Amino acid sequence: MNILFASSEVAPFIKTGGLADVAGSLPQALARAGHDVKVILPLYEGIRQEWRDQMTFCCWFNVTLAWRSCYCGVFSLYKDGVTYWFVDNEYYFKRADIYGHYDDGERFAFFSRAVIETPQHMNYYPNVIHCNDWQTALVPIYLLEDRYRYPTLANARSVFTIHNIEYQGRYGAHVLSDLFGLDKSYFNEKMLAYHGDVNLMKGAIYASDFITTVSPNYAYELQYDFYAHGLAGVVTDCRSKIRGILNGIDMDVFNPETDPGLAQNFSAYDTAGKAACKAALQQAVGLNQDPDVPIVACVSRLVSHKGFDMVLNALNDLAGMNIQMVVLGTGDWKYEEAFRQFESQHQGRFAARIMYSAALSTAIYGGADIFLMPSVSEPCGLSQIIAMRYGTLPVVREAGGLKDTVQPYNEFTGEGTGFTFTNIETWELVDAVRRASDLYTYNKGAWQHLMFQAMTADFGWSRSAGEYLGIYHDITGIPRPNPGSESEPQPVEEAVIADSQDQPQPQAQETADQAPAAEEASDVPSAPAQESVPAEVSAPAEEPKAEEPAPSEEKPKRVRKAPAKKSDGQKAEAKKPAKAAAKKPAAKKPAAPKARTTRKSAKANGEE
Ligand code: GLC
Repeated sequence: MNILFASSEVAPFIKTGGLADVAGSLPQALARAGHDVKVILPLYEGIRQEWRDQMTFCCWFNVTLAWRSCYCGVFSLYKDGVTYWFVDNEYYFKRADIYGHYDDGERFAFFSRAVIETPQHMNYYPNVIHCNDWQTALVPIYLLEDRYRYPTLANARSVFTIHNIEYQGRYGAHVLSDLFGLDKSYFNEKMLAYHGDVNLMKGAIYASDFITTVSPNYAYELQYDFYAHGLAGVVTDCRSKIRGILNGIDMDVFNPETDPGLAQNFSAYDTAGKAACKAALQQAVGLNQDPDVPIVACVSRLVSHKGFDMVLNALNDLAGMNIQMVVLGTGDWKYEEAFRQFESQHQGRFAARIMYSAALSTAIYGGADIFLMPSVSEPCGLSQIIAMRYGTLPVVREAGGLKDTVQPYNEFTGEGTGFTFTNIETWELVDAVRRASDLYTYNKGAWQHLMFQAMTADFGWSRSAGEYLGIYHDITGIPRPNPGSESEPQPVEEAVIADSQDQPQPQAQETADQAPAAEEASDVPSAPAQESVPAEVSAPAEEPKAEEPAPSEEKPKRVRKAPAKKSDGQKAEAKKPAKAAAKKPAAKKPAAPKARTTRKSAKANGEE
């Protein structure tokens, strides 16, 4: 199958968040399953010379964007079974930051048109165009008509993945024809129209053949205004084609046995090296050298939806426990400042590093004992998965993918990979940290057992890639490969949004200012049994009613009880030749892309 994967950021080339990690590893897993996968992304200024040196110039053409005619160059690079296409236009992409410009709508509309038009110039016939987040939301919309214009797209079907519904690409209605080149028939309630504006994510949800999001629990939560940021009705309307598929991580990259960033390597079978990592971490951030006190760590953007209001409220209670704490990240001033203050009051026991540092984040994943991630909302979350891989047990709120990935400790059966709490309540967070630190301090055997289970849980991409392939096969009608073959996809469930009968919904904290504003009356069908959630009111506390989506048979817990030595079968396959064949035009070849000059650091903490 030919799969074109479009993303505004792709690791290791350019990254600001978890989307880049997914776009960096899922396509490789699809390629390993035997498919012809191309990944297309903008050629940003921030892409380093090291990568540019490996690129080949392929072609150039002009992209029509409403009344504009814009140069579009395509460079390619082959790596780990995948061909990457870089879309070049210095006017749009030669800028210090990849997002946050006044004309982001125009920049990503240009990129979306480039996604549509590049295949014909590369003689590539995609069966699936897989788009991600609002920056590529116009692709499935353009495809509605362009599959009849371009022979290369005649058989293309679209999949759109929501990594975070908070960012939707909402613009004034005038952009429709002036910027996006669409006629006003697209301005309707089952497409782009949204309270008088144009909403790209809404359009993509209606236009795509299939929608996925990055965990089954987040797919379920998106039926509620508290989580859906005004699109609950749209999600509910389209729920028969929406499904949550859990993200994976690259188990070879995040591997404490081989990670060169650790003071000493260790494995699930021999965790001795973790003590050296802990001592090194204590030294690096100025915590007291004490091998017996548990270190609680946060590596995150310091913003409210990551649950930092609860963390601030909990600080004094946490200081009363026999723990040390380290926080790494940047974000809102009020959190940064509070953590700095707290460090000055609790020298040796509390460390705040208000910065980006890939090296320190690795040292923390390796050297800490408890990883605190109390997110108010979390579509999937990768940090808690990385922490588990390094034997740092997570304490999480049961939101989105955190609920799907962390199995709470059961003191009777010994099952579990971490500690969880339900509601957006400071005392629940404190209680969960206390449960974790008590177990660490008073029951070393049980702690070691949990570490082993966390470190050997399978978070590789193989299974999720199989689920994506199942969807691709269903929407394209291309038959599945032979049963039993390595590339055989998992079957697609009939019911797509998992019903979570066992999922109590959170109650808002007394001080919660985290609830998304949803003031405007919805003009789309409303989510089941759920009203808009004003800022001070709780998220839905009731289970959904009769017309809820049918229960999924599949419960996406991915924790293995019987660990195996290598977990996900993602062994690197023999590398193919490292150069993509590319035709160079005799004339008009633009200069090779240049090195970046300066660029504000993309988030390097491995955080989302
Ligand atoms: C976004 C989400 C995060 C998810 C990531 C990758 O950054 O906030 O939860 O893990 O995308 O899908």
